[in-house]
Amino acid sequence: MLTNKTVILGITGSIAAYKAAELASKLTQAGAKVEVVMTGSATEFITPLTLRGVTGRPVVADMFEPTLEWSIEHVALAEAADVVVIAPATANIIAKMAAGLADDMVSLTVLATKAPVIVAPAMNVNMFENPVTQENLARLKARGFIIVDPEYGRLASGAKGKGRLAELDKIMAAIEGALGGSADLAGKRLVVTAGGTRERIDPVRYIGNPSSGKMGYALAEAARDRGAKVTLITASSLPQPEGITVVPVETAAQMKQAVDRAVAKADALLMAAAVADYKPRTVSRSKIKKARPGLTLKLVRTPDILGEVKGKFLRVGFAAESDNIIANAKKKLVKKNLDLIVANDITDKKSGFGVDTNKVTLIGKQGKDESLPLMSKREVADKILDRVVGLLK
Ligand code: CTP
Repeated sequence: MLTNKTVILGITGSIAAYKAAELASKLTQAGAKVEVVMTGSATEFITPLTLRGVTGRPVVADMFEPTLEWSIEHVALAEAADVVVIAPATANIIAKMAAGLADDMVSLTVLATKAPVIVAPAMNVNMFENPVTQENLARLKARGFIIVDPEYGRLASGAKGKGRLAELDKIMAAIEGALGGSADLAGKRLVVTAGGTRERIDPVRYIGNPSSGKMGYALAEAARDRGAKVTLITASSLPQPEGITVVPVETAAQMKQAVDRAVAKADALLMAAAVADYKPRTVSRSKIKKARPGLTLKLVRTPDILGEVKGKFLRVGFAAESDNIIANAKKKLVKKNLDLIVANDITDKKSGFGVDTNKVTLIGKQGKDESLPLMSKREVADKILDRVVGLLK
């Protein structure tokens, strides 16, 4: 999503300025053209040379007297931007942006751009909580600026409070969200499941599977970026994504309960989770000792969540198969009354569990099967959502 996008990164004079170098690096690695603009005080915290080294592009900083030529070029840059990110943003720059001032290169860029502006504040807790800062932030929000709230934690002063720059992943998610653009799922409610469920055997053992949850998370994030309201019911321990309602579960029964509740208002259910089909008939309260030479576990079936779920919404299933992939997937499509099934070959190392790529075939009730080449799970997610958008029409 970031490939060839022009991202203007405005850095202001906060102790967190050093984190901007890592943000610039992440953005550059994701394929963005990162144009760094710094205020004079930001250059006291981190040198333009560092940023230049990370992005491989010239850095505009106030230490160069902004000549007319610079300003004109700079306005052109502001016009070319796909998104402007101010991270870290001090109380001072927030006040300037709220008032429409343009007396430094960062505020000038913000005033001159029509691109979405993301603001990630970082400052002392009292400055952040000061009503004037809060009023300024509210004014920016009302004008459509996207604020990535600071986090609670230890601040440079040694005190604890809200004011630490948000985690870079959150800022990245906001940038991707702002670039999502197409918003073809705006107003739609999607329920996505992810991860592998676990069924306890005793206090230290469980039946599980190697599903990482990456496909489900990619779907949830892609849907969010396309404007959907997403509930992610997850048995995975991946970090919680921004802007998504996350319901953590462990067992198939818990997942079923969460799905049944969430689909009541949903437009679509996407079951990417790998649900354990069996669980021990009884869960041992105490740790099973290995005194016996062998151990037989009596297993009983767990509910088929997708097969049993009731209601009127679009149903997308996944079929992770090792043999007769397409034929088996088609059987599941019919048996579970699905609108779409995503079949993949789990014996292929690049599309099995845990990896970042997937190679799938999309099979609908009608029409031709769509065999996709190997691509990232995020790209697969967008292909699936393209079909979902079509089916929801
Ligand atoms: N699924 C489910 N509940 C289960 C098992 C699977 O909701 N107890 C969902 C999965 O999330 C997936 C689809 O059903 O979207 C197909 O899952 P899969 O494990 O491939 O199929 P099963 O129904 O378990 O059939 P089998 O084990 O015979 O392959």
